[in-house]
Amino acid sequence: MKVCTPHVPRNDLRMIEMNPRTPLSANMRRLLPVLVLLLAAHTFAQPQAAPTASAASTPWQPKLHFYAPPNWINDPNGPILVNGQYQLFFQYNPFGDQWGHMSWGHAASSDLVHWKQLPVALPEENGVSIFSGSTVEDRDNSSGLCAEPGQKTPGCLVALYTGSAHDPQNGDKQNQNLAFSRDGGTTWTKYSGNPVIDLGLKDFRDPKVFWHASSQSWIMAVSLATQHKVRFYRSKNLRQWEQAGEFGPAGSVSGVWECPDLFELPVRESAGKHDALGKIVDHRWVLSVNVNPGAPAGGSGDQYFVGQFDGSHFTEDHPGSGPHWADYGKDFYASTSFSNTPAGQDRLWIAWMGNWDYAGKLPSLPGRGEMTVPRSLYLRQPPAHASLTPSQEPLVLVQQAILSTPSFQPSKALFGGSPYQTIAQANEKIVSGKLSGSAYLLRVTLDPGDAAEAGVRLRRSSADPSQPAAEETVVGITSATGHIFVDRTHSGKTDWAPEFPARVSAPLKHSQANSIRLEIVVDHNSVEVFAEDGETVLTNLIYPSASSTGLAFYSTPTPPGVGPALVRGVEFIPLD
Ligand code: FRU
Repeated sequence: MKVCTPHVPRNDLRMIEMNPRTPLSANMRRLLPVLVLLLAAHTFAQPQAAPTASAASTPWQPKLHFYAPPNWINDPNGPILVNGQYQLFFQYNPFGDQWGHMSWGHAASSDLVHWKQLPVALPEENGVSIFSGSTVEDRDNSSGLCAEPGQKTPGCLVALYTGSAHDPQNGDKQNQNLAFSRDGGTTWTKYSGNPVIDLGLKDFRDPKVFWHASSQSWIMAVSLATQHKVRFYRSKNLRQWEQAGEFGPAGSVSGVWECPDLFELPVRESAGKHDALGKIVDHRWVLSVNVNPGAPAGGSGDQYFVGQFDGSHFTEDHPGSGPHWADYGKDFYASTSFSNTPAGQDRLWIAWMGNWDYAGKLPSLPGRGEMTVPRSLYLRQPPAHASLTPSQEPLVLVQQAILSTPSFQPSKALFGGSPYQTIAQANEKIVSGKLSGSAYLLRVTLDPGDAAEAGVRLRRSSADPSQPAAEETVVGITSATGHIFVDRTHSGKTDWAPEFPARVSAPLKHSQANSIRLEIVVDHNSVEVFAEDGETVLTNLIYPSASSTGLAFYSTPTPPGVGPALVRGVEFIPLD
């Protein structure tokens, strides 16, 4: 979705934009209301209907990312760890591969990489779509909905979600609702007292609820989307909510604010050498706000604020220092963190790997929409700066891909080593080791030396690093500007939306450093780049040919006598 004006119902916009290739005849337009009613009746009659007939498979079906073929998905909703299993809910159309009939789909995983899709958790019903929200485990039965009062209820989940009622006459209405599951998320009951918060507003959505120990309350962060505000509510029982503080407008306000999240993270010191994990020196709160449009790469993106939360108000440490973006790629939106991860364990989050600029036009996988790899989070102090002490500069959000859980232990690196190698030497090893693939983890420390540009070319149509390739995705560092970029203009199928082929870039936070550490997660149709140990991240979808599996380091030429680009610590971990 490009724009969300107060005058146009959101759902209408989405339906128009997401079916751009199916112009309607005048007759069809007249018939549309009737068809919509018929479809709605059909939908309500069978809310758990099986997905639409499956389409042919493609080379882009992700290996490491959750998707729900052959149907549509967007935001992740209410990810939670319960009874040792990760539960993931998500925006899901049970009836097709375009946005519509929003319901909560459901999947579960024990390692955050392999997911099993389960029956729909919360279906659209009576004209009310189930928009984004969150879940918590109500172990003490604070809601009174999990069992008889007084009983402990481990495994009872409570979901808070937005009910979005489509009303063509008066405009949509969005309010906050509750559902509960006494069996760890398998079956759900919508609360009879819904809605639990109703302001009669059209753009009021995406409640994120968590337990705030110091105020002994449940807290909800929810978005007043077109006002660019996150509002906080407080509750003892998850059913009755009283208003607390508000945050915003702040940072990027060029688009609607959606899917807020609020959580506390450890602050790690900037470990001098930059590749060791610094020790925990503090804790701070992060308010994540997804914005659409207005992200640095165009369209949808996630900005974050760092500060303090006292149970009512969020106060930014460095007001006006932003916007700070979690990800500079085109395909990272609607991020949300997992509830219930054990104390002492990193907070995890996951996002929709997509962008409303073109989500409805994506080539079918089959199905449209997929999630990013889950990522663990912490805050890092910036390195001491000549004129500023670290506390005067904003802390940096660090994200690290979860791909090394025990059941997904990467096989050994195919080549590595600590001494630096020239680009030519490293490429010789790629050839001799026959390194290629369409799903892998690549780690490398890159020193661009005096080269204007250096990096790695992925998913190439040529296996020979010395040969040009018609198809490739380039991850590179531009020395003069201190930027890292991902160029997908020749990444494969790119002609299906004008916004898709792009070179997107991010300012490096340590552009003065001699070398930049990169971890790149390559999958059948995506490239997630974690630079500077996760301080700078770029997530992008690609649609390459199955045969484009080549890999090559490169640099622009350097004349004799000046420092060539070098690589070190290369690890190539096949994941196919
Ligand atoms: C974000 C979003 C949410 C909304 C959901 C509807 O992508 O627009 O604000 O709840 O998608 O599918």
